[in-house]
Amino acid sequence: MLFLKKFLIIGINCSLFAACNYHVNKAQLDNSAQSVQQINSFSTLKTNILDPQCIRCHGVGGKGGVDLSNYNSIMTNPGLVMINNINASRLYTEVESGSMPDGGPVMNSEDVATIAAWINAGAPDGTFANTNPVIPTPTPVPTPTPPPAQNPPPVVTPPNPPNVISYNDVQTKLFNVSCTRCHSGSKPSGSVDLSSYQKTMANSKKVVVPGNATKSIAYTEITSGSMPPRGPAVDPTLVKLLNDWINAGAKNN
Ligand code: HEC
Ligand code: HEC
Repeated sequence: MLFLKKFLIIGINCSLFAACNYHVNKAQLDNSAQSVQQINSFSTLKTNILDPQCIRCHGVGGKGGVDLSNYNSIMTNPGLVMINNINASRLYTEVESGSMPDGGPVMNSEDVATIAAWINAGAPDGTFANTNPVIPTPTPVPTPTPPPAQNPPPVVTPPNPPNVISYNDVQTKLFNVSCTRCHSGSKPSGSVDLSSYQKTMANSKKVVVPGNATKSIAYTEITSGSMPPRGPAVDPTLVKLLNDWINAGAKNN
C-alpha cells in the first residue's frame, strides 16, 4: 500500500517540481550547459521539502536535537548528512524508511530522490545537479560535474581523478542512487544487498564476478533493462563505469 502511494504521487509532484525548482546560476550553467538536466539548490530543497514537511517539529531547538531550519545547523549535526553516503545520512534514512515525518504523511519518492541527489552531489550550500532524471533525455549525456559549493561543508571526501575507475564511484553514483532503496536493509529485494563492497561481493548469486562483467548479474540485470524495475534507466556513462570497474578486477578502491 505504502509503495503504491509513493508512486501515485510522482505524476503530480513532477510538474510542481519542474515548475518551481529551478534556481539557475548562469555562470555555472554555462560551464556544464549540455550535461546538467536540472539545477537545484539547497534553498529550493529547504523551501520545497524541509519547510513544508519537517520544520514544524525541526526548527531551532527542534525534536530529537535536529534543527533543519538552516544549512549550518544541518551540516554540524553529527550523522545527519554524510557527504556522498546517503545510507549513513539520517536526513535520508529517516525519510526513506518512512520514519519521518513523524506521524506521516510519508514523503513521496521524488522528494526522497532529491534529498539523495543533494547528498550525492556533496551537499552543497548552493546549486547542485539533480542526477535523478525527471526530464527524459533522448541522447546519452556525460555525467554532470557538480558545481562547486559556495561555502564548503565541514567534511569533504575528495573526488576521484576523472580517469581512475573506482568502486567508490560505483557505490555512490550508481548503486546508492538507483539500487539501494530496494537492495539494502534486513530484507533486500532478490536477496541482493548492494549497500557495501563486502555485501555486494559476498553474494552467492554471482552479483559481481571480478574480471567478467557479462557474467555479473549486477551488470546484466541493468543492460537487459530489468533493473531498476520501472526505471529510470541507468545513465550509459554509469553502465560503462560498472563494466570497466568489474573488468578491471572489481577492486575495493
Ligand atoms: C510531527 C513532528 C515531526 C515532524 C513533522 C518531523 N519530525 Fe523528525 N522527529 C520528530 C521527533 C519527535 C523526533 C525524535 C524522536 C525520534 O527519533 O523518533 C524526530 C527525530 C528526527 C531525526 C533524528 C532521528 C534519530 O534517530 O536520530 C531526524 C533525522 C528527523 N527527525 C528528520 C525529519 C525530517 C527530515 C522531517 C521532514 C521530512 C521530519 N523529521 C519531520 C518529530 C517530527
Ligand atoms: C524498485 C525496487 C528495485 C530497484 C530500484 C532495483 N531493484 Fe534489483 N530487484 C528488485 C526486485 C524486487 C528483485 C527480485 C525479483 C526479480 O529478480 O525481478 C530484484 C532483483 C535483482 C537482482 C537479482 C536477479 C536474479 O536473477 O536473482 C539483481 C542482480 C538486481 N536486482 C540488481 C539491481 C541493480 C544493479 C539495481 C540498480 C541499478 C537494481 N537492482 C534496482 C527490485 C529493485
